[in-house]
Amino acid sequence: MGRIRVENLNKTLDGLHTLDGVSMTVARNELVVVLGPSGCGKSTLLHIIAGLITPDRGRIFIDGVDSTGRTGLVGYMQQKDLLLPSRSVLDNICLPLLLQGKSRPAARAEAARYTCDFGLGGFESYYPRQLSGGMRQRAALLRTYLFSREILLLDEPFASLDAITRRKMQLWLKKLHKQFGSSILFVTHDIEEALLLADRIYVFTARPARIRLELSPGRPGRPESEIKEEILAILEEEASD
Ligand SMILES: Nc1ncnc2c1ncn2[C@@H]1O[C@H](COP(=O)(O)OP(=O)(O)OP(=O)(O)O)[C@@H](O)[C@H]1O
Ligand SMILES: [Mg+2]
Repeated sequence: MGRIRVENLNKTLDGLHTLDGVSMTVARNELVVVLGPSGCGKSTLLHIIAGLITPDRGRIFIDGVDSTGRTGLVGYMQQKDLLLPSRSVLDNICLPLLLQGKSRPAARAEAARYTCDFGLGGFESYYPRQLSGGMRQRAALLRTYLFSREILLLDEPFASLDAITRRKMQLWLKKLHKQFGSSILFVTHDIEEALLLADRIYVFTARPARIRLELSPGRPGRPESEIKEEILAILEEEASD
């Protein structure tokens, strides 16, 4: 059974047809990447899975339960997810635990147990402006992880980072995913990132987003260069429409 199952989503936003019959799954401990051209509807998909907006048609199932329009079931790191500038790293990352009803000391103690694994050890009392871009993204990821350790939606979390930092963060996330084993739906428009991270990839068309191709890059059989060429050809074709 999929942890996330998306069935036949359709959505029109302000007269723009954005999602067109999107169906997909994320299995337990699987890292699934949605790869699609800019503006195709990727963030809209995550908004709907997170329950922040409702689809015109279609349903979202979390662990088999119809959860369409329900919030709070998954951790969601939005594309423009910002840390609160007036709070320290530790106070930022323990926010979800406070929302879950934990006392401040208990929340801080629990959050502090993860800072080393997330590369934030020693920086707990720093403020976001004192951190590098990569560290801010790790803090935002840890905050998302503490909201839901089981199911995470990550919307282009590394897009704003320079190439070297991005590569480091990708390798780090891959390692972390092996270690913690969450079910992750990761959105990007970067092919290399998708191929590096994904157990499975859905390639979307330009808006309205439909699934154009589904593939599992890690499986033996086809060389990665060939898979990359195929995806590149699709994205180029979609971008030119
Ligand atoms: N709240 C909204 N109201 C109206 N139109 C919207 C809204 N949010 C997004 N759109 C439009 O819907 C389409 C899909 O947007 P969305 O943000 O889901 O795409 P995306 O694939 O995440 O894009 P990007 O790659 O830029 O992050 C775009 O054409 C966008 O202009
Ligand atoms: Mg987006």
